Amino acid sequence: MSISGGKTSHSEFGQLLGGRVGEGARVKTGIMELDEMLRGGFMEGDAVLLAGSAGTGKTTLALQYLVTGITRFGEPGIYVTFEELPDQIYRDAKNFGWDLRSLEEANKFKLVCTSPNLLLESGTQTILDEVIKELPAKRIAIDSLSHLAMYVQENQLRQEAYRLVRHLKTRELSSLLLWEVNQTGGSSFSVTEIGLSFLVDCIVVLKQIEIESSLRKAILIQKMRGSDHDKRLREFEITPGGFKIESAFSEYEGLMTGSGRKVASEKFVELFRGASGKTKSR
Ligand SMILES: Nc1ncnc2c1ncn2[C@@H]1O[C@H](COP(=O)(O)OP(=O)(O)O)[C@@H](O)[C@H]1O
Ligand SMILES: [Mg+2]
Repeated sequence: MSISGGKTSHSEFGQLLGGRVGEGARVKTGIMELDEMLRGGFMEGDAVLLAGSAGTGKTTLALQYLVTGITRFGEPGIYVTFEELPDQIYRDAKNFGWDLRSLEEANKFKLVCTSPNLLLESGTQTILDEVIKELPAKRIAIDSLSHLAMYVQENQLRQEAYRLVRHLKTRELSSLLLWEVNQTGGSSFSVTEIGLSFLVDCIVVLKQIEIESSLRKAILIQKMRGSDHDKRLREFEITPGGFKIESAFSEYEGLMTGSGRKVASEKFVELFRGASGKTKSR
C-alpha cells in the first residue's frame, strides 16, 4: 500500500506531534524482558505502533499491557476493538488469567467495541473522551489501525491516523496502535512503506520466523524516538501466562526475511563439534 498526498510535510507532522508528557517517565509493560529492551518501558505519552502478521500475538500483548497497567501500576486502560466480538475477547483474556469484566466493574478498564468509521468521526472521539475522563485512563490500545485503514481512502489514512494520534496525545494517553501486516512468503514487510512510521514514537514488530522447519516468534524494537533500546531480534513465546521473551537469535542471520540460517561461524562450530564427537565415539 502506498500512501501519498496530504499537505503537511513529515517534519511539520513531527513538530505538531511533539511535546511529550513527562519526558523520561516510563510506562512499563510489566513484561520484564520487554521493559529491559525498552530501557525501562515505553515513554510516557508515546504512540507505539505494534505491527505483526495475524496470530503473532498483537492482541495478547495489548491486553497484557493494559491489564498489567491496571493491576501493577494503577493505570486504568481502554481497549478499542473493531474486529472481534467482545465476548471472545473476554473469554480469550480469561484464558490468560485476565478478568476484564471484574476490572470493568471496578471502573479500571473499558472495552470499547465500535465500528471504525465511527472512530473517524469526531462524535465518537467525544465518546472516547468520556471514557478517558471517567476512568481516568492512562493507557489505550487500538485494535487495529489497519482495520481502520479499510474505511478510509488510502490518501486519507495518514491524515486520519495523525488526527487520532494527536487526539490521544492531547489526552496524555500512552497508546498502543496495532497494525496487522501480511507476512507473505519470505519477504520482509516494511512499516515505513505504510507511511505511518513517522507518526509514531516507537515501533515494535512481532514476527513469525521459520528456523530449521519450525515456526518461532520474534520481537524487535524497530524504532524508539529519544531513547536507547535493544536492537536485537529476541525470541518470544505466548504461554498460558502471557508473553515470555527469551534470548536473542544471535546465532542466526536472515531472520528479518522470515527464515533463519545459522551464521557461518556457528555452522563451523557445529560441524567441528560433530566431527570431534564422531572421533571420540570411535
Ligand atoms: N491461553 C493461551 N495460552 C497460550 N497461548 C495462547 C493462548 N491464547 C492464545 N495463544 C496464542 O496466541 C496466538 C494468538 O495471539 P493474538 O494475540 O490473538 O494474535 P494477533 O492479535 O496478532 O492476531 C494464538 O495463535 C496462540 O498461539
Ligand atoms: Mg488480534
